[in-house]
Amino acid sequence: MAVQEVIKMGHPLLLARAKEVEEFATAELEQLITDMQDTMAALNGAGLAAPQIAVGLRIVIFGITENPRYPDANPVPETVLINPEISIIGPDRDSAWEGCLSVPHMRGLVPRYTSIRYRGYDIQGNVIEREAHGFHARVVQHEVDHLDGILYPTRIEDLKNFGFEDALFQDSPEDIKEEL
Ligand code: NI
Repeated sequence: MAVQEVIKMGHPLLLARAKEVEEFATAELEQLITDMQDTMAALNGAGLAAPQIAVGLRIVIFGITENPRYPDANPVPETVLINPEISIIGPDRDSAWEGCLSVPHMRGLVPRYTSIRYRGYDIQGNVIEREAHGFHARVVQHEVDHLDGILYPTRIEDLKNFGFEDALFQDSPEDIKEEL
């Protein structure tokens, strides 16, 4: 296990554009991704971007296996996605509560496109190309934002919908979802 420290909102690295990975299948890249996976698992996250552990490279990981606490949440495949690109399938958006490991204890209502296509590479440099909808699409948009120096609070349209999770969800703690 090599759990790394997750840097928090306010740290300048979270506002910088991360750089493309140029070499695949290296021991260095594998170690970095193992660190990211260990860190995400230790914090019970559903997604993590390399800049969140202070590495300015275009790498995201995400995934949710079926969770008995959230029987309605559709599973998201466990994925390592390098140099990702997103294209939007249609103009439809919906809003849902998001949390972020770099913005601990808070939640905000964030609009995201409901259907996207994404493309990137795995550790070996093989192309990954998928269509994603709903929560899967939301997770990918949140993580790819991290690579462009964007944190979800800047996407909230009405800041009344931003607050501490224990205050927002005091009557319905089941609404507190995984962090990204
Ligand atoms: Ni995040």
